[in-house]
Amino acid sequence: MLSVRGLSAGYGSDTVLRNVDLDVGQGEIVALIGANGAGKSTLVKTLAGLIEARGGSVELEGQRIEALSPRDRVLRGLCLVPEGRQTFGGLSIETNLRLGAYAQSGLDEAAMQALIEEACTPFPILLPRRREPCANLSGGQQQMLAIARGLMSRPKVLLLDEPSLGLAPALVAEIFRLVAALREKGFAILLSEQNAKQSLAIANRAYVIENGSITMSGQAADILASADIAEKYLGVGHSVGDPASARQLAMSARLKAILQPDIV
Ligand SMILES: Nc1ncnc2c1ncn2[C@@H]1O[C@H](COP(=O)(O)OP(=O)(O)OP(=O)(O)O)[C@@H](O)[C@H]1O
Ligand SMILES: [Mg+2]
Repeated sequence: MLSVRGLSAGYGSDTVLRNVDLDVGQGEIVALIGANGAGKSTLVKTLAGLIEARGGSVELEGQRIEALSPRDRVLRGLCLVPEGRQTFGGLSIETNLRLGAYAQSGLDEAAMQALIEEACTPFPILLPRRREPCANLSGGQQQMLAIARGLMSRPKVLLLDEPSLGLAPALVAEIFRLVAALREKGFAILLSEQNAKQSLAIANRAYVIENGSITMSGQAADILASADIAEKYLGVGHSVGDPASARQLAMSARLKAILQPDIV
């Protein structure tokens, strides 16, 4: 669905993303995990066209999109739900939702209402409160609104940038549950997160990003198992003789370093 090859991008004279390769398939949650400042937001913003790519390609359903405007990418089915939600507290929930349909021209009011109902289906608390100011919602509910606003663009690929950021633990669990439920609707989801454990727990596959480069990738369960090994054994003097275990422990050590303080 989404296929990225050799992508690089940066700010001014700084190169941040280097030679990133990444794929997200339909009905798949792919976690993009990395520490503060690793380049997760830079990557998803470059995919969305908010930052210009300096090299490499981005394909959506087999078509190159890296030269398209952000709006044209939205119309092709790529939607970024930005870090920090970026909802408008003074506007009503419904107005926030309507903003998510900005790229689509010629929607009549009946079509808009149907779209609002569809976008809110995964988040039942939103619809009955649609006339209220967005500021009345809790942080977790505002994150739900941010995702629902994204669904207003009728996306095929969702780029979720740190949806759990700043939420209390119970709400973090709820957001991850809702993201997992979105996969069942057939979206392709790239889930950028510092919260490695919970994102790996719901993801199919994962990429680890460090200093703007992908340094590890694989099945989420394998990476999670390595993270668990790091948590259980590293730092308590555990020694393992055979090379396969040694390799896994070395990978675990790297994961531990990358994902602190989430893992340890
Ligand atoms: N607007 C900007 N101008 C210049 N440098 C930037 C800008 N935004 C980010 N950077 C730099 O790019 C690098 C990657 O930042 P980015 O925001 O992509 O990381 P991140 O993985 O999303 O981190 P976080 O988990 O804190 O959101 C960092 O070194 C950061 O300082
Ligand atoms: Mg970020």
